[in-house]
Order: sequence, then structure tokens, then C-alpha cells
Amino acid sequence: MSSSAVADFGLIGLAVMGQNLILNINDHGFKVCAYNRTVSKVDDFLANEAKGTEVVGAHSVEEFVAKLKRPRKIMLLVKAGSAVDAFIDTLLPHLQEGDIVIDGGNSHYPDTQRRYEALTKKNILFVGCGVSGGEEGARYGPSLMPGGNPAAWPHLKPIFQAIAARAPDGAPCCDWVGEGGAGHFVKMVHNGIEYGDMQLISEVYHIFRDGVGFSDDEQSEIFAQWNKGVLDSFLIEISTDILRFKDVDGAPLLEKIRDAAGQKGTGKWTAISALDYGMPVTLIGEAVFARCLSSIKDERVRASKILSGPTTSRYTGDKAQLVKDFEQAMYASKIISYAQGFMLMREVSHQFNWNLNYGSIALMWRGGCIIRSAFLGDIKNAFDSNKSLECLLFDPFFQKATATAQSGWRNAISAATLIGIPIPALSTALSFYDGYRTARLPANMIQAQRDYFGAHTYELEDKPGNFVHTNWTGRGGNVHASNYDV
Ligand SMILES: *[C@@H]1O[C@H](CO)[C@@H](O)[C@H](O)[C@H]1NC(C)=O
Ligand SMILES: *[C@@H]1O[C@H](CO)[C@@H](O)[C@H](O)[C@H]1NC(C)=O
Ligand SMILES: *[C@@H]1O[C@H](CO)[C@@H](O)[C@H](O)[C@H]1NC(C)=O
Repeated sequence: MSSSAVADFGLIGLAVMGQNLILNINDHGFKVCAYNRTVSKVDDFLANEAKGTEVVGAHSVEEFVAKLKRPRKIMLLVKAGSAVDAFIDTLLPHLQEGDIVIDGGNSHYPDTQRRYEALTKKNILFVGCGVSGGEEGARYGPSLMPGGNPAAWPHLKPIFQAIAARAPDGAPCCDWVGEGGAGHFVKMVHNGIEYGDMQLISEVYHIFRDGVGFSDDEQSEIFAQWNKGVLDSFLIEISTDILRFKDVDGAPLLEKIRDAAGQKGTGKWTAISALDYGMPVTLIGEAVFARCLSSIKDERVRASKILSGPTTSRYTGDKAQLVKDFEQAMYASKIISYAQGFMLMREVSHQFNWNLNYGSIALMWRGGCIIRSAFLGDIKNAFDSNKSLECLLFDPFFQKATATAQSGWRNAISAATLIGIPIPALSTALSFYDGYRTARLPANMIQAQRDYFGAHTYELEDKPGNFVHTNWTGRGGNVHASNYDV
């Protein structure tokens, strides 16, 4: 059997992502064994896309497992959900202690955590790996976010870091993320941040188009300039291209696209986990809700005919200054969004004991994935220079950056508000910033109200931890906290 164990890596699931990852791994000098339950897919792949490569195939799970060198490294790229559990169950009888199973699909992190716990009991090293960069990334360099059983990492590292995308300085966009379900969790937060970045860009586009009256070409020029500064990123770059793209009739294609955004759920999952863990990830939340509002298009069209806005809907001030203000507003809001994303990661990591590696998370996102940007280098530096950094906004670089951006940020938000252009993400970022830097918030009023109507009790400033109730009305009634739940 050992003589037939020829492959360094096994991959199950021959949809485009799986095929491309196999070819990528093969290009880097590792021998891959391919398997698909529909075995004709294996033959098709070997005869076509993988023709002339070192890739080998298997026609049964037994043959597949026998062809892998130990410890076996098996990646599943099958549909998230029950298919992953079913395949793990099929593999298990054929595996030995210390073998590694990697789920490279879009699994929800609680599932990954559950599988990690179950397989750890069987001495199988389970890894949940976020893969970003789409089909193109899978073929030529994805961003890989592996997490799970740390004993697997030394075996995977040479392969994963070889095939991953590279940051501009040459560093691979792949490192160990943390334990348990950490890999898929970090991928989920990545997608949530992507929702936020996209929403910020679309808000600026909205005010530039409707509030200032810039043409799409003019906006493309502005974004191209921004892409040379602090906002340098993949999403600004593609927005520049999108704005100048012309349809066959010569008009901007963008303006013909229906303004109803779709979503596949990862942004929503991030927002749900923020609510579950009590973390104020407001910008991603607003980005998800903004997509929801966009999708009730017919209702908005009806509302647009009856609801009035401010008398002036055009910006009449200095346009060049407004452009500068929005550059600062977008930059500061991005800092807030990433700070919020890292707050969520810190909290969940703490709950699950994942030991998340924040610096390498920022590094992994620097290339290969949708949110890649120059700015992530600064985030990495912040976590490198202080391993116990509480929040990104405590880092001297980001403290200074938000302070510098502040006046432009406030001007941009008031300009949009006065002419009635919605900017949910930009403005929630500023509200968060102002709330975060406020030592005394008005939550004492909320506590008093809760105690007044529901006897929920409150703490006094000078006696935290000691909960008391006041008989506010001097009237009867035995109100118990259990009567209300607000
Ligand atoms: C087999 O390949 C198809 C695509 O051709 C893919 O959708 C499916 O997930 C694969 N299934 C398994 C279990 O390998
Ligand atoms: C690192 O960050 C923590 C928490 O934000 C802070 O208390 C500490 O002073 C920082 N250390 C340095 C060296 O800046
Ligand atoms: C509140 O005070 C009034 C008047 O002193 C008293 O009659 C009533 O029982 C008190 N209510 C409670 C819930 O303690």
C-alpha cells in the first residue's frame, strides 16, 4: 500500500474552484490526487484541464485514500452543509490518526467548530480554511485563512504558502489564523468587511452623482486619484473601471443597472454574530440593511413620489473641497469598519479560545482577496507593534489618522445630510467614533427607564456591580423584572 501512496495532497470536489486549486498546487511541484463522487468527472478532468500535469485521480474513496502519503492531507471542496458531514463520514473509516481533513468550502463557522470538536476526539486533525479570491484566485493565488487543529499547520504550511497570493512585498497571503472554527469565522468577517467597503464606495458615488452632478467619467478620474493615496485598494480600482465602462451605445453601463442589491448571506452572518456576541459592528450592519432597503425597489419608487426631502437637493459649495472631504470621510469610515471587525474577532476568539493571530489576519487580506488594500499593511503594523492592542483606534497611527480626517469627515456628513442623500455607513461610522470616545454616554437614562417601568435595577456611578431598585412613582404595584423584558 505504501508504494502506491504517491500524492502529497488529496482534493475532493471537482467544481471549478476544486479544479483550479488542484492545478495551482500542481504548478508548485506537489503531486495531487483528485476525486469526485461522480467518477466520470475525475476522468474528464484528467483528460482535459489536468492533461499533461502530474495530477492523478481515484475512482473510489479507498483508492483515493491509498494514494495519499501520510499524514494524509485531504481537502474537501464540496457544497457547504450536510455534504461536508456526509463526506467526512465516508472518509473516516479509511483514515488513520494524525491524518488531516480540510474543509475549503464556504462553511458557517459554528459547523466548523462542531466538526473540529468531533474529529479532535477521533485524533483526526480538522482544519476549516477560508478561501478568498474566486476562481481566478484559486488558480493563480488565493488568500487562504486556515484554522482548526494547530498540529496540522506544519504539514500544510509549505503547500498553502506556496500556492497563496502574495502581498506587494512578497509575503504569502496565508498564515495560521487560530484554533477551532477560526478560519471560517475570519473568512466570514472578511466578507462582512467587504460589504462595508462596497457600501462606502456606493454612498460616495451617490452624492457625487446626485448631489454634486459629476459624470461617471469625472468620478472615475476622482477614484483613480484616490487609488494613489490612502484609499489604494482593489475595490476602488474596480470602481474606477466600472465608472468608465461604456455600453455598446456609448453610455455608461453602470447607469443602466437596476439599483437592487443581492446578497448571499455572509454579511448577514457577520451582523448576526455581532448581535449574538454584543459587539457594535454598526457599519457592516448598516451595509447589510442598505442592501435590504435597495431591494424593496418598487416600494421606494412609490415613496419617492409622496415623501418630501430638503428644498435644496444639490450641493452648492466648493466641489473640489467636497471631494477632499469625502476622501477623508471614506478613509476614516474604513478605519472604523476594520476596528469594529477586529473587535468582533477579538470577542469571539476570546469566547472560543481560538488565539486569533490578528497581525497575520491583516497580512492575509493584503493580497488575493476582494478587500485587499495598502491600508491593511498599516493594520498589520499596528498589531505587530502591540500584540495586546485593545482596539485599532488605540494604535498611534490610527489615532492620528482619524484625528486628521475628522473635520473633512464631519463636513462630508453634514453636506450629505443637508441635501438629503442617504449615507448610512459613513454616518454610522462617525456616530460610532463619537460614541467610542465619549466617557459618559446617556445610557443612565435607559437604565432609569428600565428600572421605572420594569424594576430591572441599575448601578450607581460610585458603586458599580451593586444593583439597586428605586420606587420611582411612590405608587403601589409589585412590579417584578420578569414582567417585562426590554
Ligand atoms: C463533484 O463535482 C461536481 C462538479 O462537477 C461538484 O459540484 C460536486 O460537489 C462534486 N462532488 C463531490 C462529492 O465530489
Ligand atoms: C498596547 O495596547 C494596550 C491596550 O490597548 C495598551 O494598554 C498598552 O499601553 C499598549 N502598549 C504599548 C507599548 O503601546
Ligand atoms: C412604592 O411606594 C409606595 C408608597 O410608599 C408603596 O405603597 C408601594 O408598595 C411601593 N411599591 C413597591 C413595588 O415597592
